Amino acid sequence: MSRGYFITFEGLDGSGKTTQLRRLAASLQSEGHKVVTLRQPGGTALGDRIRSILLDSRSEATLGAIAPLSEMALMFADRAQSIHEIILPALDSGAIVLCDRYTDSSEAYQGAGRELGSERILAMHRAVCDNLQPDLTILLLPSLEASLRRARRRNQRHVQQKGTDENRFEREDDAFYQRIYRAYEVIASREPQRVVALREDASIVQIETHIREIVSLRIPAPVI
Ligand code: TMP
Repeated sequence: MSRGYFITFEGLDGSGKTTQLRRLAASLQSEGHKVVTLRQPGGTALGDRIRSILLDSRSEATLGAIAPLSEMALMFADRAQSIHEIILPALDSGAIVLCDRYTDSSEAYQGAGRELGSERILAMHRAVCDNLQPDLTILLLPSLEASLRRARRRNQRHVQQKGTDENRFEREDDAFYQRIYRAYEVIASREPQRVVALREDASIVQIETHIREIVSLRIPAPVI
């Protein structure tokens, strides 16, 4: 039994999950909790390499087309490494771990988006991640249109500022994203104890307050 608490954030690209994760981390830290944040793919040295292979749309020019099963396996290689290097040590030390995407993303993007099927993803999770489950998943599900608009704007900024792009997934068509959206809804209804879905197109501050309430019900303030 670990002493910490494991929270993941999920949603489509542009759903606002990264902003909300940062705000929750700041709020928990200001209350005196020890907080560790990370994102997937990435976060470890190995994971950062995998991230650039998987997300840069120019990868395929040098590596050739990435097969859906290779994509899935690389996502899990990244995840296994971050569980080993970051997540388990942090949980063992009693920290609250906030992770930007986890296996639900693989189920939604590779399982549904790439049509590999949920069973294959869940079997991989059992084999490679020892079935480590989050204690709580915050799923941000504003409308599909709003998410995609934000994601595409952000990616243009990324290209301008850093000269790299992370839009291999954002070139996919609307049907791909509709399958992902639907898969997230299925996951939320399958695991209502773990997954809290926030569907509102509310302001950043309103959603932040809502998330803070959900988390306070599960994690009391530390005794100082
Ligand atoms: P993000 O860091 O902006 O959320 O982008 C990560 C991208 O990688 C996003 O398009 C979703 C995709 N992804 C998968 O397809 N499968 C996965 O298992 C994970 C973690 C991410």
